[in-house]
Order: sequence, then C-alpha cells, then structure tokens
Amino acid sequence: MPELDLDVHLTEEDLAAALREDARSGLTATPKRLPPKYFYDARGSALFEEITRLPEYYPTRAEREILADRAGAIARITGAKVLVELGSGSSEKTRLLLDALREHGTLGSFVPLDVSGAALRDALGQLHAEYPDLHLHGIVADFVNHLEVLPDSGTRLVAFLGGTIGNFTPAERAPFLAALRARLSPGEWLLLGADLVKDPAVLVPAYDDAAGVTAQFNRNVLHVLNRELSADFDPGSFAHVALWDEAEEWIEMRLRATRPMTVRVADLDLDVTFAGGEELRTEVSAKFRRDGLTAELATAGFAVRDWWTDRAGRFALTLAVAVAV
Ligand code: AVJ
Repeated sequence: MPELDLDVHLTEEDLAAALREDARSGLTATPKRLPPKYFYDARGSALFEEITRLPEYYPTRAEREILADRAGAIARITGAKVLVELGSGSSEKTRLLLDALREHGTLGSFVPLDVSGAALRDALGQLHAEYPDLHLHGIVADFVNHLEVLPDSGTRLVAFLGGTIGNFTPAERAPFLAALRARLSPGEWLLLGADLVKDPAVLVPAYDDAAGVTAQFNRNVLHVLNRELSADFDPGSFAHVALWDEAEEWIEMRLRATRPMTVRVADLDLDVTFAGGEELRTEVSAKFRRDGLTAELATAGFAVRDWWTDRAGRFALTLAVAVAV
C-alpha cells in the first residue's frame, strides 16, 4: 500500500515570522515593496486560479498546451523515478506529466513542495484519489530556503512551472538556480516554465485584465497584512498598476496610494506613511529570451536539452539536465 507522507519544514509560526520580517523591511524601504509570495492565502489562491482562466492571461493555457504535446517526450527522455514540483499549488497541469510518466512506467513517487500546508493537503487528498498506487510525499517548505529537503530515491525530475521563476530578479535567480543544481546529481532533470518577452500590448493586459481580477489579486496582499499583522490598510484607496519595464524586461505590479495616508501596522508597532500617488511594488514577473535563459542555466550547471514553445510562441518549457561542474 503506497503511503502518503507530509513533511512540514515550515510551520505557521515560521511563516508568520517571515511575514513580519518582510513587511517591516519592505514597508520601511524606499521605494516600498512586498514579496509576491504573500498574495497566496486562500482568497489569493482562488483569485489566482480565476486569473488563469481570464482571456488576457495566456501563460497557463500556453504552458498546458506545451505539456499536453510534450509530456510523452519528457517521460521518455528523462525516465524519471521521482517527480518533484516546486510551488505546486493545485498541481493541476502536473497531471499531464504524472500521466505520461506513469504510462512510461518509471515513476515511483510524486513530491509536491509548497509553502501552503492547507493547499498541499487539499492537493494530496485529490491526487491520492486519482493516483491510488503512486507514492505521494508532500513537503511544506519554501523553495527558496529549503531545497535541501528534496528526497533522493532515483532519477529526479524537478518541475518549476507557471513562469514563477519570473518572480525572482536576475540577482535572485542565479543563487536559486545554483542552489537547485547543488541538490541534484549529474543526469537529473529540471523542467522550467518561463514566459517570453513579447509585445507589451499582449503582456500588460495579462496583468491588468478588463474584469479587474488581477487588481483584486494585487490588493489582496493588503488584506493579508490587515489580518496577519493587525494592519489597517484601506485596500480601496490603492489603485492597481501593471507596467512593462523595457530595460529589465519584466512586468511590475504596484499598488498606488490614491491619497496621502498613514497606515498603522499594530503587530509591528509601525506607522507607514504614503504620499498621494506613492507606489508600493508587489511583484516583478520577468519575461525571458531563449539565449538569456540558456546562458543562465549553463552558469548554474544545467545544459538545455529541449526548448519547446506553444504554437503562438508565447511561453517556453525548457528541459535541462544537471551537468558536472
Ligand atoms: C504565478 C508568478 C507565474 O507572474 O504571471 C499572475 C502571478 N501575477 N498575475 C505571474 C501573477 C499577476 C504569476 N506567477
């Protein structure tokens, strides 16, 4: 009987401490900023799922199209015994990989890793019902800080999907990719989903949709601070801003104060002053080019084996192998 394991490397207390630390440093910085990982409480995760179904938000559909076309090839090429997914969330698209790897006959276990214990428990329950003879090993951890916990029981394929790599700045990407490479042995695999540089007329609406779902998602981080840190942000006094930074080649989301205000963050004993029009950066979502990403992966010790895009060429799935460094 295959078991279902759940390892918790990150407790509610750890998360609360990280939020306090990140909120204090980000809200007292100039310009103000918050890390994007705090969007994803239950409401934020539901809003993100809604974003993935918006007509303007192409990345999820584009990546699903590539996975549907290439999952069989990925299974044949890698022969993976263990599929690890970083930032697994609902693992919705991952089922395409699980099915192909099961069919190929090599896969023994699936290791979803996510910061949200609640999301992971839900996903594991569903997966256990759908794949009763697959060994499931959930890990509650932060993929930036806890990569040392990846189990090692045969050739691993680490999937990092959705374009989440774009939430790192280039300065953060290099150490992340190097740390990931350091956890793997030569011959093990990375499957990386990356959104591509394209016309801002396509990019910007993907982050500023007509229905205003992304605006709600963006403001949700203020609701998270209100609840978790007893803050008194008035989310209605912040406008959603999405802009394309041509030089950095990233989309930036911001919240713009529509009036001067002082926000009390009681649990930090902190008063945060906003000038009218002042902006708080809530996310960068970097977009990639083939040459640049291939070079970054090479620097980290990964050789690109395949580069696949959707038919419209909007999004890339890269299969890279860990090489001796
Ligand atoms: C989940 C990080 C890939 O950057 O496109 C969606 C999050 N932010 N709309 C992205 C997001 C605004 C998304 N990632």
